Amino acid sequence: MVKIAIFASGNGSNAENIIRYFKDSEDICVSVIVSNNRNAYVHQRALECGIPSFTFTKEEFEKGDSVIRILKEHEIDFIVLAGFMLKITYPLLEAYPERIVNIHPALLPKYGGKGMYGDNVHKAVVLAKEPESGITVHYVNEHYDEGNIIFQVKCDLHPDDTHDVVAQKVHALEYEYFPRVIEKVAKRACRGYDDVIPESML
Ligand code: GAR
Repeated sequence: MVKIAIFASGNGSNAENIIRYFKDSEDICVSVIVSNNRNAYVHQRALECGIPSFTFTKEEFEKGDSVIRILKEHEIDFIVLAGFMLKITYPLLEAYPERIVNIHPALLPKYGGKGMYGDNVHKAVVLAKEPESGITVHYVNEHYDEGNIIFQVKCDLHPDDTHDVVAQKVHALEYEYFPRVIEKVAKRACRGYDDVIPESML
């Protein structure tokens, strides 16, 4: 069984969607939720799903040891960032090499980097009158949104779409694709599976 930790800072709708996707899986389970915000709604979702959740300060994330201790205690193999707003630092990257992935709500390398999260991204996309947006799943490195891209999928935008409408379209893609991408990548990373993401998912 590949054990996953999900890191989330806020609402946690992706976290819940991923938890539900793997609920009956024989290969993968979500074992822990980790946050930097004790008031985040993701804790409530974790409680309702019966999954332990923990909060660490920004300094604890930067130092890494207390976060890594909890992850090791729960035998975590793979980390998924789903709406997590802090930068991941070296201790965690060293503890989980090529085993941390993030979802970004736009088509990287556009609209990435510091400050580009959640609605800020969708507002920038609308302001630029982009004809399309989408999602990017990528490996995490020491820079915001710069690790190798694993998967992208696009959605068309209408000139009248507000940032809320763009957010809805992007969320729909996240719910549909992110768990399936995690399934492939986590199995491959943790078990040496050599299957790849099928063309039909790209
Ligand atoms: C998601 O759209 C995710 O892609 C985005 O935050 C949202 C979290 O929603 N992540 C970033 O912007 C990271 N830079 P959720 O809490 O409802 O899953």
